[in-house]
Amino acid sequence: MKLKTMAALAVGAALVVGMSACSSSPSTSGTTAPAATSNAGALIGISMPTTTLERWNNDGAHLVDKLQALGYTTDLEYADNKTDEQISQIQNMINDNAKVLVIAAIDGTTLGQVLQTAADAGITVIAYDRLINGTPNVDYYATFDNYKVGTLQGQFIETQLDLKDGKGPFNLEPFAGSPDDNNAKFFFAGAWDVLKPYIDSGQLVVPSGKAPASDDDWQSIGIQAWATATAQSEMQNRLNSYYSGGAKVDVVLSPNDSLALGIEQALQGAGYTVGSDWPLITGQDGDLANVKNMLAGMQAMTVWKDTRTLGDQVSTMVDQILTGQAVDTNDTTSYNNGVKNVPSYLLSPQVVTADTVQTDLIDSGFYTKADLGIS
Ligand code: GAL
Repeated sequence: MKLKTMAALAVGAALVVGMSACSSSPSTSGTTAPAATSNAGALIGISMPTTTLERWNNDGAHLVDKLQALGYTTDLEYADNKTDEQISQIQNMINDNAKVLVIAAIDGTTLGQVLQTAADAGITVIAYDRLINGTPNVDYYATFDNYKVGTLQGQFIETQLDLKDGKGPFNLEPFAGSPDDNNAKFFFAGAWDVLKPYIDSGQLVVPSGKAPASDDDWQSIGIQAWATATAQSEMQNRLNSYYSGGAKVDVVLSPNDSLALGIEQALQGAGYTVGSDWPLITGQDGDLANVKNMLAGMQAMTVWKDTRTLGDQVSTMVDQILTGQAVDTNDTTSYNNGVKNVPSYLLSPQVVTADTVQTDLIDSGFYTKADLGIS
């Protein structure tokens, strides 16, 4: 009896908490509070875009660890950057009775139909790192502040080149992320809102002419799938076409590390040398090869997003959803997906340079000295 009563109380409490959760956050889609015990061991579907970009491997592994530690079962899938494959994998998770889907979309505009199926099955959807657009059937979004990522890159260039004090002109080559990645729009806007005034003043010059007229034109310099090889060949083309007469590149706006790696390889191939004419290069993600390049003087900074904290936050949100609690969000206005403002939780990115690798990346346990090849 006692057990039954406890169960009834638990269900009652969960329902009350669930209702208060819905009423306490009117902008969230909320969820009817299931009985807490009914979701123990529930299946969580984790859909990641690709293993070819380093950070997603870290994201997936950490999410699995955290969710399994909470007693859930997990299905982690990587879609090789193929949208059809991602859709099919998500459909399989629905068929396997997943209770929550955590999705880092390859292309956030392609999931409308499969997420309608998920909604019809009562499945809650969390957009992971990248917003999912054009559908009401995404319940939450968890990411780092994407616009701030770009702002940090732009401000780093502004400070290092002393642009505020009128220094220049400097030769800049800007790049943007994958045209199908909603985040890339925000990264570029954050940086360009800092740098465009210096283009207009003539302190920053773009010899290749590849300077978007506005934030909205970012896709004109986008690199599909964030591919290192594509960034390398684009930089090679610009060097061959616009820098053959002795002009040098002074600064490169790279939105992330996979692009920066290709750009750095192109510069090496063109004979640029560290400590002599090597340009200032930005990045994002703290990828291992790029941190090593930072320590070697080949990259000036990376915007680090400690993916462990994103996994921690999302696993907490999953547990709140499945135990009928109010779901943590700290931003319900920044991310409209074309249908609604998606209740979001934004984490803060931070700048890491060669001088802060020890304190930020090694002391935090993100990398070991051995990882980085330092004794
Ligand atoms: C973005 C992500 C970044 C960037 C890129 C490549 O959506 O937020 O971390 O590295 O994809 O994965």
